[in-house]
Amino acid sequence: MRILSGVQSSGKLHIGNYYGAIREFVRMQADGEALYFIANLHALNSVRDGKLARELTLETAAAFIALGIDPAKAALFRQSDVPEISELNWILGTVVPKADLENAHSYKDKIAQGAAPDFGLFAYPVLMASDILLYDSDVVPVGKDQKQHLELTRDWAGKFNRTYGEGMFKIPKERTRDETATVPGRDGRKMSKSYANTIDLFGTDGEVKKQIMSVKTDSTLPDAPKPLSEMVSNQSTQPLYDLLKVTFTPEEFAAIDAKWKASGGAPETHGYGAFKKTLLDGFHTTFDPARKRYAELMNDRGELERLLKIGADKARNYAAPVIARVRSAVGL
Ligand code: ADP
Ligand code: TRP
Repeated sequence: MRILSGVQSSGKLHIGNYYGAIREFVRMQADGEALYFIANLHALNSVRDGKLARELTLETAAAFIALGIDPAKAALFRQSDVPEISELNWILGTVVPKADLENAHSYKDKIAQGAAPDFGLFAYPVLMASDILLYDSDVVPVGKDQKQHLELTRDWAGKFNRTYGEGMFKIPKERTRDETATVPGRDGRKMSKSYANTIDLFGTDGEVKKQIMSVKTDSTLPDAPKPLSEMVSNQSTQPLYDLLKVTFTPEEFAAIDAKWKASGGAPETHGYGAFKKTLLDGFHTTFDPARKRYAELMNDRGELERLLKIGADKARNYAAPVIARVRSAVGL
């Protein structure tokens, strides 16, 4: 089974990215031939500064490795290190109906949020479909927001196969993470770099502490039981509770939960401040080894480049027969 997924290098990674995506990539690398890439071509749609784009690409690569992607098991590579992708992007685009792109949710949402309607953004799903089809991927683990892109990928691959011959492209299956709860941000909305409500995986100790201490709470007194979390108009009413729940194992969380619901505790142990302190400790216990490895990698760019080169070579090997088949079928 060939597993493929990508993450854009468009900003700092946060714990929502870890619990919602990267943790699963790490688990899945044992299930088959895994390919994970840093979608730095896609990121050009939002990062318009070469120096920053380069830095974010390396940061994302270092983050993946530090968090457990093993370059010896999975092919970890930069999207732009596989030039075949741009060729397939063009070829596939020749069978893509413009209306499909006009109807894509992601495009409409981005425009509604004020993004410029540039060609790169419009054509984003074609490049994403090419990412998937270029490596004969069987399974693509993605968040719910990417489901439509997978449907489009299958539609276009099917159309291409009907035009040029069955079996040209392997039709991929998505694996959506419906079961992974959306991690709320500090303000209760979905944690997202676009909402400035994140807890950053690789922020400095001071930054992380500040972020965790600023998680929104209500005015419940320290000795009173704390209200449980609810979703009200797509927002969590108690992000602190939800964040504790994702950070700790079920066994560890049971004790925290009991305390949350108890009455009569002292402010130092039962106030929201104490729960934030617990979350901060949990963050450090969970992520400090990765944070240390990340710092080492960011200080050894040569090693990072070496690992990415190995990944790109593997990816290009997977891509070679596919692009040869497609070139020959279309008459190039
Ligand atoms: P952001 O919303 O910060 O821009 P991205 O859209 O770049 O994050 O997401 C990268 C990956 O992380 C996607 O697979 C997405 O499903 C996952 N992800 C992002 N935010 C969350 C969250 N708050 N909870 C769960 N998963 C998330
Ligand atoms: N669009 C994806 C996201 O924003 C990133 C991505 C690009 C991707 N190409 C891909 C994901 C191919 C899976 C497969 O999260």
